[in-house]
Amino acid sequence: MAWITKNSATARIARREQPYLTPAMKDDLTKRVFPRYETRLACTMPALHMIQHAYGWVPAQAIDEIAAFLGVAPAEVLDTASFYEEYWLKPRGTHLVSVCRSIACEFCGQPALTQAVKDALGIDVGETTDDGKFTLIELECLGACGGAPAILIDETLHENVAPADVPRLLAQVGPHGH
Ligand code: FES
Repeated sequence: MAWITKNSATARIARREQPYLTPAMKDDLTKRVFPRYETRLACTMPALHMIQHAYGWVPAQAIDEIAAFLGVAPAEVLDTASFYEEYWLKPRGTHLVSVCRSIACEFCGQPALTQAVKDALGIDVGETTDDGKFTLIELECLGACGGAPAILIDETLHENVAPADVPRLLAQVGPHGH
């Protein structure tokens, strides 16, 4: 899930001295990726993948760096990054808790399930715990409607989850403090 902060002409983005798009990444893009595509713009997604994979999210500085390297507008890179849920535009926790909010799960008790996760972690949807361990999001249908309500914790799907199950499921992936 990509989360976008409001931007404006006066917005300042956080910068660090060290580039996110490393010389090794540039080399890989040049040698392995560029030959596969007709345009540099088409290399946006592979470049974003590299950043997402290396850092767990896509900082605004990295979007600038990709744009400069590909010779495209930063807005074009941001368009792509904000469209796909797998690119994160802000840091996320070590563990991702995704509650399905689509209709079958909603009818089968999803609101109480989301509330149980919020209570257990002390955060709202879209937020990350202070210790950086958990991020909570809601997603559309996880394809597990027969086991509604469903919840995905990292790569593990849990079906027929009751609110009372939540503390145990969270404890399975790691303790946290908030
Ligand atoms: S509606 Fe929740 S898994 Fe399909």
